[in-house]
Amino acid sequence: MKKKTIYDIKSLSGRTVFLTVDFNISLIDGNITNDTRIVEALPTINYLIKKGAKVIIASHLGRPEGYDLSLSLKPVAKRLEKLTGKKVKLIDKFWEKSALDDIRKVKDRQLLMLENIRFIDGEKENDRQFARHLASMADFFVNDAFGTAHRVHASIVGIAEFLPSFAGLLMAKEVEMLSDALERPKRPFLVIIGGAKTPEKIAVIERILDIADTVALGGAIANTFLAAWGFGMGKSYVDYEMVEMARVIFWKTTRKHSALILPLDVITSNKDKNVKPKVVDYNNVSHNTAIYDIGPKTRQHYRDLIFEAKTVIWNGPMGLYEDPRFTEGTDSILENISQSKSFSIVGGGDTLTSIKSQKYLKTISHISTGGSAMLEFLEKGTLPGIEVLQNA
Ligand code: 3PG
Repeated sequence: MKKKTIYDIKSLSGRTVFLTVDFNISLIDGNITNDTRIVEALPTINYLIKKGAKVIIASHLGRPEGYDLSLSLKPVAKRLEKLTGKKVKLIDKFWEKSALDDIRKVKDRQLLMLENIRFIDGEKENDRQFARHLASMADFFVNDAFGTAHRVHASIVGIAEFLPSFAGLLMAKEVEMLSDALERPKRPFLVIIGGAKTPEKIAVIERILDIADTVALGGAIANTFLAAWGFGMGKSYVDYEMVEMARVIFWKTTRKHSALILPLDVITSNKDKNVKPKVVDYNNVSHNTAIYDIGPKTRQHYRDLIFEAKTVIWNGPMGLYEDPRFTEGTDSILENISQSKSFSIVGGGDTLTSIKSQKYLKTISHISTGGSAMLEFLEKGTLPGIEVLQNA
């Protein structure tokens, strides 16, 4: 990594570290469904504590509008206590001056966590005053939040103006793994992109077509490309504003040496649980149904592509995997990648949530904690939250 990491900090004993992490994880009725993002940050947290530092942890959770305790980090702090075996003191009104006194009172080798950093507008606005306030809590800034490093926010970018700034171990690992795949991919190089955030992902598809041999699509993003090709998508989720851009990408692909693959068949239904899901070809979606998953022919085709590939990157589910009727496509991609011998990187918040069994985690080369951040890194080769860290 071309940036300094926590190993470059000379003395941590008795010093305070402001550590930004991405603990934006899905909670159902206050219960954590997948704690990968917390577990992956433990090496950095444990290292800083072992070296005698006091650690202030900052993260966002969801997209709150102001102070909204339904998006409190309390359950996350509890899980961190369990994983580290250490008490985690949650600082509620962290934007007030009194928070600084509370922080000062806490002893070395202790963990503190600020409440949801997005409770304050200054975070997203990258407000300089707010960034200075955060910086005044600590001696060093460490960014281990790869998943939010694409955001120009106060706890990610602004704070680096006021403190010596270093990468955490997860950040360093993410950058190293993704750079390796981008700069020296073993071929064939396959990228599978699914999910719904079409505007965020479409630019990546264009860039990735320059590097990968094959880009295969699933999920709502595939619907937008099928619509651009002129097929009726019924009631499927289609980002019509992106259709024109998808057409441009088709046109550009004709001049590239790579292939853009769309689903051959899909599973259609409607949200009414009484309607039996039906497999239809991509050009046969009826006007009153919607696409919720890729079909068996597509699963087989993507399986063949995965087993032929030597490098595979996957981001985003193949359908509405939250509904047990539509998990097969996403599960088959995960299972095939974990069985293949390729160098594999799997990422994205939804993708992590869809990984229900820990057994998969062992056979995938790298599980990225980044969703959009991972894709933006693939597109640009760097991110704003990485750029502001000190050069090695
Ligand atoms: C993510 O889950 O992709 C990151 O935590 C970023 O979240 P955001 O899209 O709300 O900034």
